[in-house]
Formats: sequence, C-alpha cells, structure tokens
Amino acid sequence: MKSTLINGPPSPLHVAIIMDGNGRWAAARGLPRTAGHRQGARAVRRVVEAAPGLGVGTLTLFAFSADNWKRPVSEVRALLRLFRTTLASEQGRLVARGVRLSVIGRRDRLPRPLVAAIMRAQRATAGGRVLHLRVAVDYSARDAIVEAARHLGSRALVNRTCFARRLGQASGDAGAPDVDLLIRTGGDQRLSDFLLWESAYAELVFTRKAWPAFGPADLRAALGQFARRERRFGGLARAVAP
Ligand code: FPP
Repeated sequence: MKSTLINGPPSPLHVAIIMDGNGRWAAARGLPRTAGHRQGARAVRRVVEAAPGLGVGTLTLFAFSADNWKRPVSEVRALLRLFRTTLASEQGRLVARGVRLSVIGRRDRLPRPLVAAIMRAQRATAGGRVLHLRVAVDYSARDAIVEAARHLGSRALVNRTCFARRLGQASGDAGAPDVDLLIRTGGDQRLSDFLLWESAYAELVFTRKAWPAFGPADLRAALGQFARRERRFGGLARAVAP
C-alpha cells in the first residue's frame, strides 16, 4: 500500500466525503427529497462506524454548504432539523465509540437550538481518540480562506504552516491534517468549494452511487483505489528516484 510507511504502521488517513445524491436517490423511489436526507443520515452512521477499522483517523463530511441556503426554505429547515436531531440521538453512540466530533463552518447563520446541540455534542465527545469526525455545516472553503487571510493581514512572516493553522481556526477546527482521499458520491465530478486548501494533494475518487446507498464496502473500495495510487507530491516516481 503506497500510503504505508516503510518502517512502522500506516499513519491514519484523512478522508473527506462530498455526500451527494440524496435527492435523486429519493426521487428514484418516488419519495420526497427529505427522505433521501434521512437515509443519508443512516449512511453517515454506517460510514463513521466502519472508518476506524479501515485506517481512517479523520473523516470530514460535507453536510451543508454555504450555497445550500439557495434551496427551498422547507428543505433547508428539514435539513437543519435533521442535523439537530441526529446530533442529539447519536451523541451517546459517538462517545461510546471514541469519536471526537467537530463541526466546521459558520455558526452565526444557524438556528440557536442547532448551535446549542453542536456545542453539547462537541463537549460530550471531546475525549474521543479513535476517530476525529468533522462535519461541515454552512461551510465554504473560499470563505474560510478569505477569513484566514483577513486575520493574518499583511504580516510579513506568513507561511504555509501558519496560514494552514489560521485557516483551521477560521473553519472552526484547527489542527486537522491535509486530506489524503476525497470521495464524491452521486456521479458529479467537482469540488464544490470543499476543503480547497486542505485537498491540494488529495487523491480524488468519484462514484456514481448516491450517498444514501453508500456503505462500508464502498468506503473500502475507495480506499483500495487510493492504495493503488502513487502519491508523488510533485516529486518523481519511486522507481525513477536515485
Ligand atoms: C446532497 O444531496 C446532500 C446534502 C445537501 C445534505 C447532506 C446531508 C445528509 C447526508 C444528512 C445527514 C447528515 C448528517 C451529518 C447528520 P442532494 O440533496 O444535493 O442530492 P441531489 O444532488 O440528488 O439533489
């Protein structure tokens, strides 16, 4: 496996997922879009449970983009309610499984009960060491980059490391490693303003499968593709190097 260190165990991976296709999954079954989102929440649970066993240490899920406010109010309300109820119902399970939850993105446009549920779940899971689960809500990578740049101002000593730290703070969670593997479900092949800086050298895997149908076997398959890729980070292939 190319991600494996030559001496020692493989380092835990950062996998990011753009969970797309909920609405189409529901429409194909004659169901309302919100039924797709509810089924999507079940897929989140399956993938979170499987991730540590597959070598994933950090999992970042795109749940609601800053552009998703453009959707009909009824769908936005249903989604935000689903986040709140899922946070409350899953909190105990997350603690039991050693999952530390961070929600990244803006907070100021979210309903107060959702912000309160986020704070409660983050506090309750703060001791988790098995998996760092990051859920992006009202998130825009471009906005986070602009916010970080604004904070750093015109300081002469800005470098990649301190910019990355500031960017993490601007997104609400400093310290996560760069993304190793970015998966998008639902058939489209684009990044949609998700973790643009952090995914500079991420391997990309696109699958036609809709998010509500995605499961541990699909995550394992994506990680299998990742393992077969040679990550050169701009250098030379290993066989060519002196
Ligand atoms: C994209 O599918 C999905 C979303 C905008 C919402 C993602 C939310 C969940 C998976 C629900 C639960 C999540 C958590 C973290 C509890 P889409 O609606 O754009 O689908 P479409 O492209 O088929 O219309």
